[in-house]
Amino acid sequence: MSDSQSDQQPDRQLPIGVFDSGMGGLTVLSALAKAMPNEQFIYLGDSARLPYGTKSPDTVVRYARQASKELVRRGVKALVVACNTASASALKMLAQDFAPLPVYGVVEPGAQAAAMQADASGVLVLATESTILGGAYQRALLQQNPSLTVFGRACPLWVTLAEQGWVGDQAASLTQHTLEHGLRGFVDGAAYASSHPKTVLLGCTHFPLFRQQIEALVGADVQVVDSAQTTAATVSNDLSKLDLLRDTPVTDNEMVFLATDGVERFRKVGGYFFGGPLTNVSLVDL
Ligand code: DGL
Repeated sequence: MSDSQSDQQPDRQLPIGVFDSGMGGLTVLSALAKAMPNEQFIYLGDSARLPYGTKSPDTVVRYARQASKELVRRGVKALVVACNTASASALKMLAQDFAPLPVYGVVEPGAQAAAMQADASGVLVLATESTILGGAYQRALLQQNPSLTVFGRACPLWVTLAEQGWVGDQAASLTQHTLEHGLRGFVDGAAYASSHPKTVLLGCTHFPLFRQQIEALVGADVQVVDSAQTTAATVSNDLSKLDLLRDTPVTDNEMVFLATDGVERFRKVGGYFFGGPLTNVSLVDL
């Protein structure tokens, strides 16, 4: 971006760009679209390079930069990093690279949602390996409430199951077994006997796909939260403050979906995440 470009306020008629390593960010897109029904969105899923959650932070930053560049090149007025792994490793860099374009992540809003619910029993964060190892949620939660007890659990296999669309009855026993494995020690109480956290934060945008099964496993006394609603509220409030929301509803509100691989699967499985059919999906090369 040249200096003269970078000083300009983005055009409020432009769409909002959203990206994730794959389809998980569609859970956030769905909440964004409900919170801002007049807006147009363009979504990029980097399905060719998924998972991000097992890659090094440097690689995640590189991928996130490429995905963001593609959206910015197409023209967006704001960027939503709908991936916890990329938010944890790359948000600061992206905000610097693309300033003054507003760039939003999902970690802060997720931490805010969990901290609002949490009591003295603490919060269990379920996320990718990279997000847990980097400690971004630990920091964000303690910033919200320094006395919180935070537990972390990496559940990398859940991403693969979600991307394959192994939800609900379709693959009940394998999915159930993998979810139970991820929650081992938490659901049976062994490792948490003295302090059983009553708040579970889905710190990966793929995990809301398994919300019902997770809720059944952790029990009715545990609140399961994710960052989608809080992220949507944050983006909507902030864009309103920046005077960047459209003043007239968009007439052709067909969403644009881009995938770096597996367009057919994206179209088919993406519907589970988004909660409705995806029609306009095309292949993009970063
Ligand atoms: N959906 C991404 C997240 O929220 C991660 C999935 C992946 O490992 O690529 O962390």
